[in-house]
Amino acid sequence: MNHRFKIKTVGETISTNLLMQELEKAGKLINGDVIRAINQTGGIGQSGNYWESENGKNLTFSLFLETHFLAAEDVFQLNKVVSLAIYDYLLEKKLTNVKIKWPNDVYVGNKKIAGMLTHNSFLGEKLEHSIVGIGININQIEFKRDAPNPISLKQIAQINYDLEDELNGILQFIYMRIIQMAKGGFLQLNTDYLERLYGMDKKQKFKDSEGSFNGIIKGVDSFGRLLVEKDTGDQFTYDIKEIEFL
Ligand code: BTN
Repeated sequence: MNHRFKIKTVGETISTNLLMQELEKAGKLINGDVIRAINQTGGIGQSGNYWESENGKNLTFSLFLETHFLAAEDVFQLNKVVSLAIYDYLLEKKLTNVKIKWPNDVYVGNKKIAGMLTHNSFLGEKLEHSIVGIGININQIEFKRDAPNPISLKQIAQINYDLEDELNGILQFIYMRIIQMAKGGFLQLNTDYLERLYGMDKKQKFKDSEGSFNGIIKGVDSFGRLLVEKDTGDQFTYDIKEIEFL
């Protein structure tokens, strides 16, 4: 069914990202390897947060990619590729109101349906390889921890999905966006990304090290830093932990 990626399903692991990092150190991975956990017991989210996923209900998987064709400064391209692929996939499911939320999330309305966590290795001025961990809420209908506002496909569509089919579906979209990137489609990827970005060009409240303020998202630079214009008209660049949406 899926000849571009080699999927290995494990019954239980703490975190597919951690498992992949170990396998990578042992030299046991090749481009396109995917590890999926049926039960991920200690999923890791951004900033070391816990990624909740009930046993057997969702997609929790990591993808290994050789990324040496990317310059180190273009590291965020990969993030755009995967966010857009998740977006494309959710659109195919006929979901409306889907947005990519900087830096690593996909939202439906004001609720989070998917997140990703990427570990990149660099070699000089180039990327070497990347482990892209992806969590998508599919069939779970009760969440114990409510931050940050989880929602699943089943809660929206009232359908119970076949996880293997859904994984194959999402991987096809990832493949198409990777091809677009590999062919040098950075400009189009950026346009697509900004068109789908939560809060783009809208005034909203943020908090940075100087306190809360009204600002407008103006884009994302190639390193993945958020560009925000303050009321004063000045534009500021923020790394992941330097700004909060209020
Ligand atoms: C986030 O939104 O904070 C990122 C969540 C990333 C979760 C996925 S699930 C598969 C992979 N393994 C992990 O431990 N984390 C990622």
